[in-house]
Amino acid sequence: MSPAFGVYIHWPFCLSKCPYCDFNSHVRHAAIDEARYVRAFATEIASTAQRVPGRTVSSIFLGGGTPSLMAPKTVGAILDAVAKHWTLAPEAEITLEANPTSVEATRFQGYRAAGVNRVSLGVQALDDTSLTALGRLHTAQEALEAVAIARKHFERYSFDLIYARPKQTTAEWRGELRLAIAEAAEHLSLYQLTIEPDTPFAALRASGRLVLPDDEHARALYDTTQEVCAAAGLPAYEISNHAMPGAECRHNLVYWRYHEYAGIGPGAHGRLLIEGERTATATERRPESWLARVESEGHGLVETDVLTREQQGDEFLVMGLRLAEGIDPDRYQRISGRRLDSAKIAALVDNGFVETTPDQRLRVTCSGFPVLDAVVADLAA
Ligand SMILES: C[S@@+](CC[C@H](N)C(=O)[O-])C[C@H]1O[C@@H](n2cnc3c(N)ncnc32)[C@H](O)[C@@H]1O
Ligand code: SF4
Repeated sequence: MSPAFGVYIHWPFCLSKCPYCDFNSHVRHAAIDEARYVRAFATEIASTAQRVPGRTVSSIFLGGGTPSLMAPKTVGAILDAVAKHWTLAPEAEITLEANPTSVEATRFQGYRAAGVNRVSLGVQALDDTSLTALGRLHTAQEALEAVAIARKHFERYSFDLIYARPKQTTAEWRGELRLAIAEAAEHLSLYQLTIEPDTPFAALRASGRLVLPDDEHARALYDTTQEVCAAAGLPAYEISNHAMPGAECRHNLVYWRYHEYAGIGPGAHGRLLIEGERTATATERRPESWLARVESEGHGLVETDVLTREQQGDEFLVMGLRLAEGIDPDRYQRISGRRLDSAKIAALVDNGFVETTPDQRLRVTCSGFPVLDAVVADLAA
């Protein structure tokens, strides 16, 4: 089997900007010229394939922004461009991120016909008061209807919820999670609300108008998440992602297992093996500037940095320790050129934050996940 190779495609537009979100997403009031974007995506795919030729693509992820605003024929043309310049594995996982509004759900059949075989729906909450507070354009009912339409067209689908919301009790979250599990079947992404700098939520919190659960309550919500999902057969395979065994998102595993991936579109990041060197790539973030750059230069790249072994080792730890399966310390040594410090590991094991598995992998424990950043910083230092 060929090594995993993922292709991430970024669609940077949304109908409105949610007040918590700092993703590279933009609202435009004029119509988007999708045909022009398709040409630019195809151009960037071609130039990336020249840098890393001959790959077999194991997964494609159309993320955003709101990719479900694209016409199905736009999605089809982008997938065709990927298949033209690389080999698409017959069992490739092709995911499209969708907002769960009724308008977008009408396109699901078209996405399936275009080749998408998995959707990830941004449901965020299953109660209308929270959805309004999160600035969402859909109701809970509409979201559940979109989930039902997804179920009709796709064997594999997932949805996202945001928890640790203002005033959310553990009992409410437990009930919401149970409903989500009944609707989700194989996969759920459950994110704790994060206040990102320079978002409207950051300003609201600074002014005291947005009060989040304190650390103790957030921890109780996290523990509830683990308990309810594990009991329902959807254990966490990554810090915020839960799946039935075998139903994990293969594309996201490419990032966490530190394999190779291409980033296409405005503000997309890649990690490519160019002439034997692991190279970090990033493209121009602003959609119109990205478009102009691709049209004049054939690609939207603003960064191509060869990573040092130390940088690669750090990235490998940051990504891999998010996974329940943990990391292979020998692979860390091959990547970084150094061994993990056994005294540090012993201290973390004593504190109950990490453990070694029978097959000699190192993984973070349930008590370690809430302090993951500190664990990673300790091991990487
Ligand atoms: C890039 S968004 C795209 C999804 C899609 N546009 C939507 O909103 O339905 C991916 C996911 O990140 C999560 N997310 C975004 N900002 C977040 C934040 N500040 N805190 C927690 N989760 C967040 C949301 O659950 C969202 O569905
Ligand atoms: S959460 Fe989704 S819909 Fe909202 S602004 Fe971010 S990318 Fe757009």
